[in-house]
Amino acid sequence: MAGPGAATAAAAGGTLDYETVALSDDGKTVTLLDQRQLPHTVTYVHLTTAVAVADAIRSMVVRGAPAIGATAAYGLAIGATAAAAGHPSDDAAFRDDLAAAASVLRASRPTAVNLEWALDRLLRLVTPADGGGGGGGAKQSSPAAVAAALTADARAIAREDVDINRRMGALGAALLPPAARILHHCNTGALATVGHGTALGVIRSAYAADPGVSVWVNETRPRLQGARLTAWELAAAGIPHTLAVDSAAAVLLRDGRVDAVTVGADRVAANGDTANKIGTLAVAISAGHYNVPFYVVAPASTVDLACATGAGIPVEERGAEEVTHPCGGGGTDGVAPPGTRVFNPAFDVTSASLITAIVTEEGVARPPFSESLPPLVAAAAAK
Ligand code: MRU
Repeated sequence: MAGPGAATAAAAGGTLDYETVALSDDGKTVTLLDQRQLPHTVTYVHLTTAVAVADAIRSMVVRGAPAIGATAAYGLAIGATAAAAGHPSDDAAFRDDLAAAASVLRASRPTAVNLEWALDRLLRLVTPADGGGGGGGAKQSSPAAVAAALTADARAIAREDVDINRRMGALGAALLPPAARILHHCNTGALATVGHGTALGVIRSAYAADPGVSVWVNETRPRLQGARLTAWELAAAGIPHTLAVDSAAAVLLRDGRVDAVTVGADRVAANGDTANKIGTLAVAISAGHYNVPFYVVAPASTVDLACATGAGIPVEERGAEEVTHPCGGGGTDGVAPPGTRVFNPAFDVTSASLITAIVTEEGVARPPFSESLPPLVAAAAAK
């Protein structure tokens, strides 16, 4: 992992070695790059309980749907390892601890479905308490064996994420014209995933084949994931980019200065309605108005077929201080009069009718998404 000073290398356009999320070899410690400190400082936090991992997700030490999913999986794995050590031969107590760990992690952030997806994938490895045999006759795995299985699968989720992102990168890059000028909202890069990125992965893949690619970076109020994180990643990769305030996106689209918009997703409903960082909807409306293609790039694990439309997607509302004291307020009194009432939804839902295509690792879905998405999700599940 990178040490202090790496952020400076990134700002200078140099190479950068960093890891967003990692699990120690002994399976007891989750290490996260503290994204709250970027772009100025590269520091890592080391967490040894599921509760601490849930707190880190809630406070956005780590963020971005696939990164949250992998982190939650690691959190459950360390929770299982601790529970197995505490109750090596008490299956009921082990299961109680495991359920408590899963529940605190599940409650940490509501919108990104990758979090639930990862927890549910791991929990499917736990044999039902009755042994699944209906009569209680089947032999149970030991707590240690269950913890080992969960840890192995959590590592697999992280490994697979990078491969999935590279596949989406290739599929998405093929949609872009030569020397594409791409508008990007929020951060969907290596910091939002385990590596490479989703929408930013498409940009990475496109740039690798075509150095004429350039990026408009939406700053992404209020937490400035675009300014703080995407600009940092693009600088590290040497990809030409320009930072703009969110409200400039409509002007860029109107003036023909954008060839395509690429964004990630936190949850895609069965009909294609897509939850992503607040501000995405405004970009999609402008892109539709000016006939610029609007691409969502998201792994199959972000598609929630159980959610019929965007109306069923839970949208997280966050604290007023994110708006009144951007970047922690920098020690100032904030940017609004004390006590100002604030509306701070972390996400919005873009209607499927505004989306040109949804790029998944199994292929590119086109409207009608209710028909094109299910086979791609099924193909991913079959692997
Ligand atoms: O609140 P955040 O920073 O977790 O929101 C992240 C986003 O909205 C991303 O665009 C989304 O998770 C896709 S990340 C590959």
